Amino acid sequence: MSGPWPRRPRFVAGNWKMHKTAPEAAALAREMIALAGGARPRCEVAICPPFPALQAVGEALKGSPFHLGGQNLHPATHGAFTGEVSGAMLAALGCQFVIVGHSERRHGMGEDDALVAQKLRSAQRDGLTPIVCVGETLAEREGERTAEVIVRQTQAAFEGLDQAAALSAIIAYEPVWAIGTGRVATVEQAHEAHQIVRATLDRVVAPGAGARISVLYGGSVNAGNAAALFADDQLDGALVGGAALEAASFWRIIAAAGA
Ligand code: 13P
Repeated sequence: MSGPWPRRPRFVAGNWKMHKTAPEAAALAREMIALAGGARPRCEVAICPPFPALQAVGEALKGSPFHLGGQNLHPATHGAFTGEVSGAMLAALGCQFVIVGHSERRHGMGEDDALVAQKLRSAQRDGLTPIVCVGETLAEREGERTAEVIVRQTQAAFEGLDQAAALSAIIAYEPVWAIGTGRVATVEQAHEAHQIVRATLDRVVAPGAGARISVLYGGSVNAGNAAALFADDQLDGALVGGAALEAASFWRIIAAAGA
C-alpha cells in the first residue's frame, strides 16, 4: 500500500509466530495467493512470518495484494544488540507492518509498557505501521481488572504521541486467555474491550481519535467464528495465530472480513 493508511480499513493479519522455515513459509504464502485465484481480497491482509522467512515470503508475495509484517523489533536503529532486529531492517525487506507488545513478548520475554511505547515510536520512525497489542490475562479478567489493564497498556503506548502518529497506528485487543486456547472471547467481551481502548484513545490522544483508529481482535479466531466477530461494529478485523497457518482457513477468515 502507498500513501496514508485509510481510516479503519477492514484488516486481517496472520501472525505465524515461531512456525515455518523459510521454504515452508514461502510455500504457504504461494498457496494463499493461489487460493485467492487473482481475486483481490475485500479487506487489507498482512502476513507476519518469523524473521528468517521474511525475505522468502516477501518474494512470494511480490505483485500480490498481501502485505508483509514483522513480529517484533528492537527500538534502536542499529548497534550491539545480539539477536535483535531493527525496524529499518524489516522495512528494507519490504515490511509495512510490525507487531508490537504481543502478549507472548510482554509475558514471555518481560517486555513492559515503557518498552512497548518505545517500540511503537521506533516502528513509526522506520516507516512501519505498528500493530500494538493489548490485553488482560485470565487472572486479571477474573480479578475484574480487565478495564484497568487495557487502559494502562493503551495509555502507556499512546501517551505523548502526536495525533497524526497515533492515528496511523493499529491496535489489536488480544486477551491472553484466548490466545492459542480455542477459547475465543464472546462478541460482547470483545466489543466492550474495544470500547475501552477507543475511550482511552479519546482521552489520551484527542477527542474522537478512538473512532479513527483500527482495533483488531485476536485470540482463537478461526474460520467458524470470524463472521460473528466481524459483524460487531467495534471490530475492524483480526490478528490471527493458529488459523493463519493453514491457507484455506486463513482465506475463509479474510473472506468473512470482506463480507
Ligand atoms: P491464536 O489465533 O492462535 O489464538 O493466536 C492469536 C495471536 O496471538 C495472534 O497474535
